[in-house]
Amino acid sequence: MRTTNSLSELKSVRAGMNGTFGLVPTMGALHAGHASLIQRARAECRNVGVSIFVNPAQFSQEEDLSNYPRPIERDLDFLHDLGVDVVWVPTVETMYPPGFQTWVTVEEMGAPLEGKCRPGHFRGVATVVAKLLNSFTPDRAYFGQKDAQQVVVLKRMVRDLNFPVELVVCPTVRESDGLALSSRNVYLDPAQRQAATVLYKALSAAQKKYECGERDAEVLRETMRSVVKSERLAEQQYVSAADPETLCELKEVGGTVLLSLAVKIGRARLIDNFLI
Ligand SMILES: Nc1ncnc2c1ncn2[C@@H]1O[C@H](COP(=O)(O)OP(=O)(O)OP(=O)(O)O)[C@@H](O)[C@H]1O
Ligand SMILES: [Mg+2]
Repeated sequence: MRTTNSLSELKSVRAGMNGTFGLVPTMGALHAGHASLIQRARAECRNVGVSIFVNPAQFSQEEDLSNYPRPIERDLDFLHDLGVDVVWVPTVETMYPPGFQTWVTVEEMGAPLEGKCRPGHFRGVATVVAKLLNSFTPDRAYFGQKDAQQVVVLKRMVRDLNFPVELVVCPTVRESDGLALSSRNVYLDPAQRQAATVLYKALSAAQKKYECGERDAEVLRETMRSVVKSERLAEQQYVSAADPETLCELKEVGGTVLLSLAVKIGRARLIDNFLI
């Protein structure tokens, strides 16, 4: 496994590779969710690359950028054991050199939900992913369904800007009680960890209503709201029952619906979704 901070070294490693290349972008603090993306890439591509970059541009003022977990040695062992070929760990100065001023904004899909709660978040995500795609030139890039809006935003960007890459979306990996794996779960103390199952419970309750024939999207949202409200340690940020492509809130569910929510528990801000 080759590991480098340098863009020119990444490019020379990449130039020496034959066959397909799969990229898995991450912010490190790796867990089984990341592993599932890497294993999928490993199965589908001759070469696999991973980036580890805690992207300041996608954190807002109040967010936990400086305290974000950065267990780099453990992460590199983890990637080595998964058979990754190349790891790029750029510095902030490499990614955003002095004078940097070009940003990618995916206007409509980046605005609601996460975009509303975290102003500038998707501008940071789209810009850094555009740079990662240009730096690695992958055939495929792998993302988790856990970040459903991120997938919608990035698919739009890839289409709009003609990036020659296929985006592959991988299912959300969960703990046995339903909690989606996230690097931010380490912020939860035991009581908060228990309370964090409320996201999965809320989604499951709404899904059950849907399966019983409920098609009024507001009833599905209200179902999620009331489950979140029943958990004393949970503070709801939003609940949504939206069109999976436009992310517009639905009135009636016709075809598929993206149920999603964001909840704050202690200092952890957690998100989850079901696509049904
Ligand atoms: N539980 C999961 N299942 C599947 N994919 C996941 C999961 N968690 C994260 N991913 C995916 O891994 C990639 C890198 O995500 P990232 O490094 O931000 O991890 P994270 O756990 O989401 O961290 P954070 O909660 O701080 O955002 C993204 O494509 C993300 O969707
Ligand atoms: Mg994430």
